[in-house]
Amino acid sequence: MSQLDYATLRAAALEARQRAYAPYSRFSVGAAVLSASGRIFLGGNIENAAYPMTICAERVALFSAYAADEREIVALAVVTPTSDVASPCGACRQVIAELAPQAMILLLNLEGAERIVTPRDLLPFGFGPQQLAELG
Ligand code: THU
Repeated sequence: MSQLDYATLRAAALEARQRAYAPYSRFSVGAAVLSASGRIFLGGNIENAAYPMTICAERVALFSAYAADEREIVALAVVTPTSDVASPCGACRQVIAELAPQAMILLLNLEGAERIVTPRDLLPFGFGPQQLAELG
């Protein structure tokens, strides 16, 4: 990923954060996905008065890319309003492992902290399609 892509993706994640619907936690998260075709998909977390129905920004962005028939995900940037970068929740790690296994994951905060990790860093020894395939 080029420096330009990086800057664009960071800006997109910040924009996505503005679209979060987080009236309950007031913890707005932004995510941006870059696909191999060069398109960028945004996602903010979307909460619900029935709290468990909430969906994280990462999954909104990834599902949006898949809904647009993009299957090759190059990078996923996530920005959180935390003092250091935050790391995706367990459910998002599971989804990232399957939908964006080759992606570069950029974890960002609002103050310029950043950390780059892989899906494998986030979910070593995870359950995946290969286990289901064993059934034949
Ligand atoms: N959240 C995300 O969107 N992504 C994360 O990586 C961590 C948590 C959301 C879920 C919920 O709306 C709020 O942040 C507080 O947990």
